[in-house]
Amino acid sequence: MEHKVFAYKTLDDLTDNLKAIGQTLRPVTDLSVLAKPISFGSIQMDNRIAFQAMEGCDGEVSGAPSELTRRRYRRFAASGAAFQYIEATAVVPTGRANPLQLTINEQTAPAFAEMVKEMRAVAKEKGVCDPFIAIQLTHSGRYSKAPDRSPAPVVAWPDPERDPKGVTPHVITDEELDALENAYVAAAKLAKQAGVDCVDIKCCHGYLLNELSGARLRPGQYGGSFENRTRLINNVTRRIREEVEIPMMVRLNIHDEYPFPYGFGVDEQDFRKPDLTEPKKLVDILIGNGVSIIDCTAGNPYYNPHVNRPFDTAGYVPPVSQLEQLMKHLNTVREMKEHNPNAVYIASMFTWLRQFAPHLAAAAIKDGWFDMAGWGRQSFAYPDFPHELLENGQMDPKKCCMACSKCTDLMRTGNVTGCVLRDKYYTDLYQSIPAEKRPKPTKDLREKV
Ligand SMILES: Cc1cc2nc3c(=O)[nH]c(=O)nc-3n(C[C@H](O)[C@H](O)[C@H](O)COP(=O)(O)O)c2cc1C
Ligand code: SF4
Repeated sequence: MEHKVFAYKTLDDLTDNLKAIGQTLRPVTDLSVLAKPISFGSIQMDNRIAFQAMEGCDGEVSGAPSELTRRRYRRFAASGAAFQYIEATAVVPTGRANPLQLTINEQTAPAFAEMVKEMRAVAKEKGVCDPFIAIQLTHSGRYSKAPDRSPAPVVAWPDPERDPKGVTPHVITDEELDALENAYVAAAKLAKQAGVDCVDIKCCHGYLLNELSGARLRPGQYGGSFENRTRLINNVTRRIREEVEIPMMVRLNIHDEYPFPYGFGVDEQDFRKPDLTEPKKLVDILIGNGVSIIDCTAGNPYYNPHVNRPFDTAGYVPPVSQLEQLMKHLNTVREMKEHNPNAVYIASMFTWLRQFAPHLAAAAIKDGWFDMAGWGRQSFAYPDFPHELLENGQMDPKKCCMACSKCTDLMRTGNVTGCVLRDKYYTDLYQSIPAEKRPKPTKDLREKV
């Protein structure tokens, strides 16, 4: 079905559209399941609402959270969402996607500890649940930038389609990958000292660990076979369990929707069709290594954002309806949980559905498709929605994210980011940029998506 901008007036409209695209899931009006606590091993969470990792590109040059970063996390902490992230945080300086990306090391760790303390204090003061806080550890791989913001790509293997023009990417060596394993373990130790509840190993969205999982053309011990392609994440999770003893999670691309031989979780002939054979094998390994939460996601925000974050407006018209894209994601999460239910599964991409998202999320959680529902952009636009929803049983459509992609545009053009439509700080920032210099919708998207 072709893309149409969000126009549902009622839950019945959504139900009709679900029927039209051949889906059997139906939104429900009883949302009580979203308020149910969940426990898994040592993990306790007060409800089923997760705030996904959302980078603000606003750290200090050192990689420590700035006052603007802390403002975002105070807003998140006051939300009542049981699960919250500290966004993508680099484990080495050369793995930063922008010069202000958060980075954890001996120097910056105390500032992370302060921020975590502040989050817990804000939640307490507001009278909402104490959030379960995960920090997302990452290496930005082919999207890494030098301190002057010029591209400094570190790739698993060259890919003419995605390599930046005019720059020769550095193919990370096996020795450098061996050393990176130590960097992840060191970062996890520091994160534990900073007081987070969990470390997330980011393996999604085209960043290094995700790219490695599709590095079929790469020679050596980190490429070719499935075992080699997943060696780093396997080793990192195993060592964190042995050496750090902190709950672990993985934000995992279930399918890249990127062509073979580079794409992970895709059909060899038709990359738009997920093939979950390898993602299932990977999840078995991760769970075997002690990973307790699988936060499912898909696609690549630089290449096919309609797969990663359903939208109404961006640099191109999505090739399929965004409800279909969302349902493709939810169905893959369901298949993963059915395959190996021994973890907490979080599904992503609920923002585009605005005020109707909780109704679809509740239906899927009730039916056992996954355990928690995750919102990304909605946390920027409407951070108060979890406690409002839990108290009043509804979200206010006037406060919802409009899937306009302006926060992504700000980010891609080297600015700090937040919600341009709903958060005055970023509205003012956007308007202060002269019209001719305002971020334009990202142009580097391919025709073939
Ligand atoms: C501005 C911006 C920053 C993001 N930062 C991160 C990040 O740090 N880590 C991550 O895994 N995903 C990141 N994402 C992706 C979101 O976590 C989420 O998966 C995506 O927005 C889809 O969910 P939604 O439809 O609820 O927004 C970011 C998305 C946006 C728009
Ligand atoms: S700028 Fe605001 S309304 Fe637009 S997509 Fe981002 S969070 Fe949503």
